[in-house]
Amino acid sequence: MYSEKVMDHFQNPRNVGEIDGASGVGTVGNAKCGDIMRMYLDIDENHIIRDVKFKTFGCGAAVATSSMATELVKGKTIEEALKVTNKAVMEALDGLPPVKVHCSLLAEEAIHAALWDYAEKNGIKIEGLEKPK
Ligand code: FES
Ligand code: FES
Repeated sequence: MYSEKVMDHFQNPRNVGEIDGASGVGTVGNAKCGDIMRMYLDIDENHIIRDVKFKTFGCGAAVATSSMATELVKGKTIEEALKVTNKAVMEALDGLPPVKVHCSLLAEEAIHAALWDYAEKNGIKIEGLEKPK
C-alpha cells in the first residue's frame, strides 16, 4: 500500500524536533482528521531556509510527507519553498494511497503558516503567500 520511500521516511523521519528562537513557527490542524503539525523555520538574512524541524501528532503518512517536505525546503529560498506543494511532496515519495492524500496537506500548510509568521515578525510581505486559516 505504501511506497518504499514513504516507509523509509515514516520509519526514519528527517528533521524531527524544534528550533529554539526559530525565525518562523507554524502550527496547523487537519480539518479532516484532527491531527496537528508544527513546523519551525530558521531563515537567514538572504531569505534562505537554513534549517527546518517539525513535530506532529499525526499518522504515518503525515510523518513521511512532513519529513520529505523538510528535505525539499531545506537550503531553498522562501520563494522556492512556496512551490513545495503537497503534490510535489507526494511525487517525491512515489505517491500516497488516495485516502491519505489529505495527510500531505499538513506539511504544506504548516510551512506556509511558518513563513507567514516569519513575514509578520519581520514586517515583510511574501509574494504569493496567503494568510493561513
Ligand atoms: Fe489521525 Fe490518522 S486520523 S492519525
Ligand atoms: Fe490525520 Fe493522516 S490521518 S494526518
